[in-house]
Amino acid sequence: MTKYHAVREQLLDRLDQMAAGEQLPPERELSASLGVSRMTLRRAIDDLVARGAVRRRQGSGVFALGPKLDTGLVATSFTADMRSRGLRPGARTLAFERRPAGARVGRRLRISPTAGVVRVTRLRLADGEPMAIEQLHVPDALVPGLGAADLQDASFYDLLRTRYGVTVVRGVQTIEPTVLDGDESASLDVPVHSPALQFERTSWGERGAADGDVGIVEFVRSVYRGDRYQIRTELSVPSASSTPPGGGTEGAA
Ligand code: GLP
Repeated sequence: MTKYHAVREQLLDRLDQMAAGEQLPPERELSASLGVSRMTLRRAIDDLVARGAVRRRQGSGVFALGPKLDTGLVATSFTADMRSRGLRPGARTLAFERRPAGARVGRRLRISPTAGVVRVTRLRLADGEPMAIEQLHVPDALVPGLGAADLQDASFYDLLRTRYGVTVVRGVQTIEPTVLDGDESASLDVPVHSPALQFERTSWGERGAADGDVGIVEFVRSVYRGDRYQIRTELSVPSASSTPPGGGTEGAA
């Protein structure tokens, strides 16, 4: 292991013991205690900034970001997810408009391209810290009277249930890496072209047992900060009887 890698490991060990927001000792002190040059230390810290382990604040130092929030593969709402972690969920409406679905969104929502949709862009926050930007598309016919203020610091899923009697029952989601553009990074308060996770979710809803299926209720593109999020998946090992001949492990990651 090179000196630089060793320093990075030592810093990661130290950060494991630190709370989010706690400050690392000043560079001079840290380089002396780790026995490395300030240049090596700076390089290791640059790496930790890129990995999302620490944040540099100009003129004031380097701060621990705390562990990443891990998100499972479940169709929870942002609000429920934050509450389950003991964090205060927030939502700021950045844009709200009614417009024709257009070809792409119409296809996703399985409605005509000329049918109306409500398109809402919201900044999602956890304990006041910006975490994600969501662009939500909902068929207009499903949410009559919905206004921009309704979605300010509020849960869309709760609103669907309480005001419109619709419960989200399942969804399909894709996840891919992306980088943030200028506007997104400004809203999320991170450098431009920072890494992020892009989620695209289509969800289906039901209106109680009597009325049943209401079809697709949302198509959402969200970008989550790559320095604050990771995906957690529970892995099950297929039982011997269900393993196809030859082991069936091809392509497993
Ligand atoms: C997640 C999903 C969105 C969904 C949202 C609802 O963030 N990616 O598809 O619209 O949750 O959250 P809330 O009910 O808090 O608005």
